[in-house]
Amino acid sequence: MPGKVSEEKINQVRDANDIVDVISQYMTLNKKGKSYLGLCPFHSEKTPSFTVSPDKQLYYCFGCGKGGNIFTFLMEHEKLSFIESLQVLARKAGIPLEYDQENDARLKEKEAMYHAVRFAANFYYLNLVKSVQGKPARDYLLQRGVLMETIKAFGLGYSPDSWDGLIRAAAAKSIDVNFLFKTGLAIQRDKGGYYDRFRGRIMYPILDKAGRPIAFGARRLKEDNSAKYINSPEVTHFYEKRSVLYGLSQCRQSIQSEDAALMVEGYMDLISLYQAGIRNVVATSGTSLTAEHAQLLNRYTKNAILLYDGDSAGSRAALRGLDILLENDMDVRVAQLPKGEDPDSLIREKGKSVLTELLNRASPLVEFKVQALAQTSKLDTPEGKSKAIRAILESVLKIKDNIKQSVTIRELAERFFLDERLLLRELEQAKRQHTGPKAGPTISTQADGKNAPAIKPKTRTKADIAEIILTKLLIQSSDLESYIFKNLDIEKIRHSLLREIIQIIFLFHRENRRLDRAKLIAHFEDPKIASFITKALYEPVKYVDGTKLAYDCMVQLEKREITDAMKSIQLRLRECEKRGEDSSKLRQQWQLLRNELKKVEDTARETR
Ligand code: CTP
Ligand code: MN
Repeated sequence: MPGKVSEEKINQVRDANDIVDVISQYMTLNKKGKSYLGLCPFHSEKTPSFTVSPDKQLYYCFGCGKGGNIFTFLMEHEKLSFIESLQVLARKAGIPLEYDQENDARLKEKEAMYHAVRFAANFYYLNLVKSVQGKPARDYLLQRGVLMETIKAFGLGYSPDSWDGLIRAAAAKSIDVNFLFKTGLAIQRDKGGYYDRFRGRIMYPILDKAGRPIAFGARRLKEDNSAKYINSPEVTHFYEKRSVLYGLSQCRQSIQSEDAALMVEGYMDLISLYQAGIRNVVATSGTSLTAEHAQLLNRYTKNAILLYDGDSAGSRAALRGLDILLENDMDVRVAQLPKGEDPDSLIREKGKSVLTELLNRASPLVEFKVQALAQTSKLDTPEGKSKAIRAILESVLKIKDNIKQSVTIRELAERFFLDERLLLRELEQAKRQHTGPKAGPTISTQADGKNAPAIKPKTRTKADIAEIILTKLLIQSSDLESYIFKNLDIEKIRHSLLREIIQIIFLFHRENRRLDRAKLIAHFEDPKIASFITKALYEPVKYVDGTKLAYDCMVQLEKREITDAMKSIQLRLRECEKRGEDSSKLRQQWQLLRNELKKVEDTARETR
């Protein structure tokens, strides 16, 4: 459970909010028997399969498999963290959340920092749109074609060309200069005292997920020798550029509805696209793309289109960005702009249609890498070609989804007239060099034929499936609990999340406490686990003989233990023989395991 809030408090907040009330605020629900039914907000559908059960206080979609309680609903629908969703629901129910004193002080300080930046943003904005000294900045934006409504939508501003314009205005509103300093808006003088960081610049407020201004990008107005852009520094964790995407707050709805995000480099690029009606855009603010950016974006869409300058610096940036996105389970395409143009200049000079055309022609991974490599290496020589292929394989290696990976390999094979199997072998080799063989299932949100986010291994072995079934059996009812816990060694469950679920159920079982299955998800914060659990409740595993099914699953786990031990002995055997040492002991051990495996198999056959 999250650090400072007690479990009791969380239960209190949950009990004070009815799930039907909460969800009804975000979508239409119709009563149907004991439950409520609606169109699933997590995948697109025409007939409702999203059900909300007041008695269980859970929701579940029979179409896409997403499910959970009020907390996970807010987490997934509003993209909040657990704590944030708790805060929203606590506020709604009028329940104060207690924090310890230290936390309380930190919270107050953070509030004051938000307040200071919000004040600054408003001050800069008014200075741009209303003041006499803001006139040149207004003219500048006007001349660049920025409309008033766009200025408003992004809260653009102008910082007065003076040393203490902001500091004085803040003081007049009793905002301590200390908070301007802590948010990077004021700089401390060596001799003591402070001065404004941003002077005479166009201000682009940078908002956090919740839409609060936390920092600024600032462009010079006059073409002098100063830096074209300066940005808020990262004084504390308050603002971390590696995890903030510029424009996300304004564009996230379009990103979700279009199910794709354009990624651009500049503030002005994003604003121009937005103004032209292309509203599914984000920009990194004054830094190159990071894994955190990719993960943040991944919450809204899995499709990214990189839109980068045509020069080689631009395409180098795109190449780096590409790999980071692939590693974070995104589908990526790249649209290349003509040399010397950026999206903003292109739209202004050639109009929106040129840009949409460019986007439609965005190249998938292989094509883009080939083009990029063609500029730097010779593809017509065998060496050049094989170098290029290896470089592309480096990126293909980073594609998380196995199916996507093999499709890309096929494209690559076709592009270079190569044997697909040859490439697959190369890929396997590269894989081994990179990570070594990866063992065990991983949690994946990948589509499961349908859209089901689920706990599922990449390549499921029988034992992997066995542990999923055992977990589901334990979740769906208490019927098999005693039998399973009498015979199961929990340590043999390899998937850590499944093990966690089983451990909670075991804890209740051991202490003879009744566990309300509908409340099981309250023990976890991860919406993926919540979906796994609700799925087990709404779509239980069907069986005729439950004991038999559980027994078979445990046999699979047992067999995996033994065969894994045999495999590791075999490896050692090979090493041993390579060195010419005596391997009889190892052979003996192997034989013992062999016998044990046979015994397990025989007993399993007999009980059949
Ligand atoms: N940038 C930065 N610091 C700089 C230069 C650039 O942080 N000294 C970042 C800004 O986020 C900027 C982006 O890199 O928006 C792209 O820079 P550039 O292409 O030089 O500027 P534009 O965005 O095209 O700005 P403008 O059109 O106003 O010239
Ligand atoms: Mn530009």
